[in-house]
Amino acid sequence: MKGVILAGGKATRLYPLTLVTNKHLLPVYNKPVIYYAIDKLVSAGVDRIMIVTSPHHVNDFVNLLGSGHDFRSKNNGKQIQIVYGIQDKPSGIADGLYIAKDYIGDENCILYLGDNILEDDISTQVKNFKDGSVIFLKKVKDPERFGVATLDKKGSVLNIEEKPKKPKSDLAVVGIYMYDNTVFKKMIGQPVSKRGEYEITYINNMYIKDRKLKGVPLKKDWFDIGTFESLIEASNYMKKKHGKNKS
Ligand code: DAU
Repeated sequence: MKGVILAGGKATRLYPLTLVTNKHLLPVYNKPVIYYAIDKLVSAGVDRIMIVTSPHHVNDFVNLLGSGHDFRSKNNGKQIQIVYGIQDKPSGIADGLYIAKDYIGDENCILYLGDNILEDDISTQVKNFKDGSVIFLKKVKDPERFGVATLDKKGSVLNIEEKPKKPKSDLAVVGIYMYDNTVFKKMIGQPVSKRGEYEITYINNMYIKDRKLKGVPLKKDWFDIGTFESLIEASNYMKKKHGKNKS
């Protein structure tokens, strides 16, 4: 399975920091945000990754990560492969994934929103993934900030609403999605949403229509780095949990 990490977007909530750099290059404790995403995919056995970002920042990612020299495959100990895709405008998460269509070819893929940091190990889900789609969910206190899912007893997702004013559950959709190769066909003719984006929630709802979307609840901590508060919270957490001199 190939991985796609989205690292574009405007990140206006982090101005003025993101006027000079990309959100995914900001530090969380001792490494840039994007390292957490790459580490998570590599530890789940994903060795071929496309990073999709804006034309303004692609050179910074190439300077930092090159072809992936800092990361070793869990499968064979060799260097992983990182390649780059360019999203001219931040036209939505589904649009960002579509850029990787030719790179993915006829394989399945895992889409990872580069500003997500999670502690759970997802290697079993990656290894066992065959078809349809699997998403990850986390119980939160403020579901209205996220995509919100409702599940049946067997773990099938019944419905997802993007940032609803009145959430139907407290299960936020985490920014990590596994898709079979039908994902790209589902994007043909996709309308833009009211906010002018190609929404990933639209694609997920197409999988729901086919009864092919499974939701896996996460047990450990999860961060979505979008605000100053979440940036500092994640940094303090990483220092405390993984730092050399744990406080
Ligand atoms: O983090 C989980 C949430 O991520 C989900 O619960 C939501 O359903 C999903 O829509 C998304 O919501 P956000 O408001 O957090 O999305 P945001 O616009 O911040 O973008 C998420 C990531 O994708 C971020 O790393 C930037 C990147 N991105 C985003 C857009 C819109 C791109 O690379 N290109 C884009 O066009």
